[in-house]
Amino acid sequence: MFMKLRKPPKSTRDLSAADAVIIKKVRAFSMLSPDRLENLLRLANEVVRGAVPGDFVECGACRGGSGAVVAHVAKLEGWKRNVWLFDSFMGHPEPSVISGLDSEIMKDWAGTMIASQADVRKALKTVDAYSEEHIRIVPGWFQDSLLSKPIREIALLHIDADWYDATLLCLEKLYLSIVAGGYLVIDDYDNPSFPGVKQAVREFFADKTKEISFSFEVRPALTVKKG
Ligand SMILES: C[S@@+](CC[C@H](N)C(=O)[O-])C[C@H]1O[C@@H](n2cnc3c(N)ncnc32)[C@H](O)[C@@H]1O
Repeated sequence: MFMKLRKPPKSTRDLSAADAVIIKKVRAFSMLSPDRLENLLRLANEVVRGAVPGDFVECGACRGGSGAVVAHVAKLEGWKRNVWLFDSFMGHPEPSVISGLDSEIMKDWAGTMIASQADVRKALKTVDAYSEEHIRIVPGWFQDSLLSKPIREIALLHIDADWYDATLLCLEKLYLSIVAGGYLVIDDYDNPSFPGVKQAVREFFADKTKEISFSFEVRPALTVKKG
């Protein structure tokens, strides 16, 4: 195991009543379990409290539930940062030439999980966190969309893309933009149904163990703190 747990984030079981309401409201728009949504909320709150600069970015927005959680925090802060929500909005892709261990599994999922930008806007409005100016919904395959939108600084990156190729691409394109003190959350890292996620993460972090600490507190997601 190349990863070493150094400083786990605080427990997610200390949510305020107001935060608990937000989680309840977004659940209809998300596939994530409440503890994983709570983790995102707590990390977003933590970077705001610590004045960590940078945007909130999500790769794999789908219907917008998890994105709405971090957008809610950005709104409460007074929209000092943008929230980027990337998705194909065409569902899962066919396996690509660089697919990993998961290429056979991908064939069964291709074209599933289709959501729309309207779904995302609805999720955001459910928690009163929609802003024409600060919410950037970016449709398209990551290989095109991530190149078209350079993001200078990221405080919180949530990768919820399910596959080896997409996860690796998102890490390669965005990890460097995460600032010191910022967080990366990779959903389904420890989910045997999506083995390509762990494959991509292990490959990407093989030579980067010194600059980060990891937590597996909210399995199957992996939380990484940079700096
Ligand atoms: C598990 S869903 C995201 C769930 C969402 N975060 C939530 O709160 O429910 C994964 C999403 O990744 C998207 N996706 C997977 N591979 C992609 C790629 N290469 N480019 C763009 N989107 C992709 C799919 O369209 C799907 O909506």
